[in-house]
Amino acid sequence: MKNLTSNELREMYLEFFKSKGHAVIRSASLIPENDPTVLFTTAGMHPLVPYLMGEKHPAGTRLTDVQKCVRTGDIDEVGDESHCTFFEMLGNWSLGDYFKEDAIAWSFEFLTSEKWLGIDKEKLYFTCFEGDENAPRDTVAAELWMKQGVSEDHIFYLGKKDNWWGPAGQTGPCGPDTEMFIDTGKKACGPDCNPSCSCGKYLEIWNDVFMEYNKQQDGSYVPLSQKNVDTGMGLDRTIAILQGKGSVYETDVFAPIIAKAEELSGEKYDGADEETRRAFRIVADHMRCATFMIGDERGITPSNVDQGYVLRRLLRRAIRFAGKLGVPENRLTEIAQVVIDKYSHAYPELQQNEKRIIDEIAKEEDRFQKTIKQGLKEFEKVVEKMQGDTIDGKSAFRLYDTFGFPIEFTLELATERGIKVDKAGFDEAFKHHQELSHAGAEQRFAGGLADTGEQTARLHTATHLLLAGLNKVLGGDISQKGSNITAERLRFDFNFPRKVERDELDQVETFVNEAIAAGIDIAMEEMTVDEAREKGATGVFESKYGEVVKVYTVPGYSMEICGGPHAKNTAELGKFKIKKEQSSSSGVRRIKAVLSN
Ligand code: ALA
Repeated sequence: MKNLTSNELREMYLEFFKSKGHAVIRSASLIPENDPTVLFTTAGMHPLVPYLMGEKHPAGTRLTDVQKCVRTGDIDEVGDESHCTFFEMLGNWSLGDYFKEDAIAWSFEFLTSEKWLGIDKEKLYFTCFEGDENAPRDTVAAELWMKQGVSEDHIFYLGKKDNWWGPAGQTGPCGPDTEMFIDTGKKACGPDCNPSCSCGKYLEIWNDVFMEYNKQQDGSYVPLSQKNVDTGMGLDRTIAILQGKGSVYETDVFAPIIAKAEELSGEKYDGADEETRRAFRIVADHMRCATFMIGDERGITPSNVDQGYVLRRLLRRAIRFAGKLGVPENRLTEIAQVVIDKYSHAYPELQQNEKRIIDEIAKEEDRFQKTIKQGLKEFEKVVEKMQGDTIDGKSAFRLYDTFGFPIEFTLELATERGIKVDKAGFDEAFKHHQELSHAGAEQRFAGGLADTGEQTARLHTATHLLLAGLNKVLGGDISQKGSNITAERLRFDFNFPRKVERDELDQVETFVNEAIAAGIDIAMEEMTVDEAREKGATGVFESKYGEVVKVYTVPGYSMEICGGPHAKNTAELGKFKIKKEQSSSSGVRRIKAVLSN
């Protein structure tokens, strides 16, 4: 087995699939563009959904990449040995090209060949879909593994819960998968222990998904127009195995991050009690994730909504656990700096956005320290007014909800003073609050990309016209700083140093509505980035030199590099109206606009 660094594994993976005719594509942003159903890119497949559904990808039908992903699920559970909020997924893709036979042969070759990872095949275990009313038992995949020399007792059949992947939202591409596990050498938990067991004996490292179905709103599965392969290999887990480490936190990726936290805190990770080790892992994981979020090409800043809220929670949780370890105030930027240095080779955007990363973390830490100080004062008031020796649930919730004072702080302070807290009462108030906001979120995210597809395409075209209109009315230096589309509205962030006046907004609206009234066909052309730039297209020129991109044109109005999808004719858009113009962050304005019939 090869002992590879994270940089070496990334390069080797892409090299291997390049040798099998795949085009290397760059990681998409952590923030999905124009997909209202999720806040973050959660898997490599996410940015590729339109192509899995049949749209043509400019780089071809065989792709390979390393995708940045974030899964926050339940943040409060992060802290074990193998779950991270941020992770990288190595992937190879067939868009209606090869299927099970090649996908399995190549996975096996990459894992076991001495030329590549050289893992002993006796250590590998495989799972295949056992079959149900939606799709047959995948004996084809199992036989293909055996053809590679895998013995039958290393193959397990499991149900949908384990061996089915997707859709990413409620609807969309999905299918049975076959997963690859490594035997970590830990003792089996019992005679029935198998790869679906979470006892730690088997660690999943790679998943080959055979995406041939489209899940519909009514729950049925309809065959896709093309059979795709979507694979995902977890980078952190795989290097932990290759480097012979029991935990992802001991690899070349996390070692320098943990070392910095050790230096700042004066504590040691190795040999510490479990609570201390967990605090180290939380600080390291959350600071890595926060650094990537802020440093993303569509950078996020801490706030109280959407992605910004998740970032704020990660940072504040990191600050809290760093405090527990004894890291002095306002030093977390030094950990972020280690993350930037470690990853800039693979993700140059971190270096480019270094100043923003450091500034935002410093500001958030400062704000949070102030919040804590204010919260301490409020805590004292609560204690003064308290009946008996217990802080009631409502007061504890008010400290949390109104003053941002974490419940853990309330509990710790109470313990120090020998006071009790009605935790059940707090939990109840918290649950009630969550249910309310959950209902709001569900409404907002109602429907997946597939059902809202047409509306998304119309709003997307309107976004291009809006950018063109802004450039016409406000002078030509406006570019996109962020875009988000839900079923109801578009949201567009752009650089501009002051408020846009209502009469200027009116002119922009008129420009867009003229383009709509003219009933123009939208054209799409593929060309290299340089050709696009020469022709005067706007858009993000972050693609690699020579890479082929799509350029969407509304002749006479707008020309922009973009992945689509778009309306066919501007007449489909209806009436365009700007509902709101506001500041988004320093030097960045935000417009919300709608289309009506
Ligand atoms: N999309 C698959 C996964 O995330 C590869 O596991």
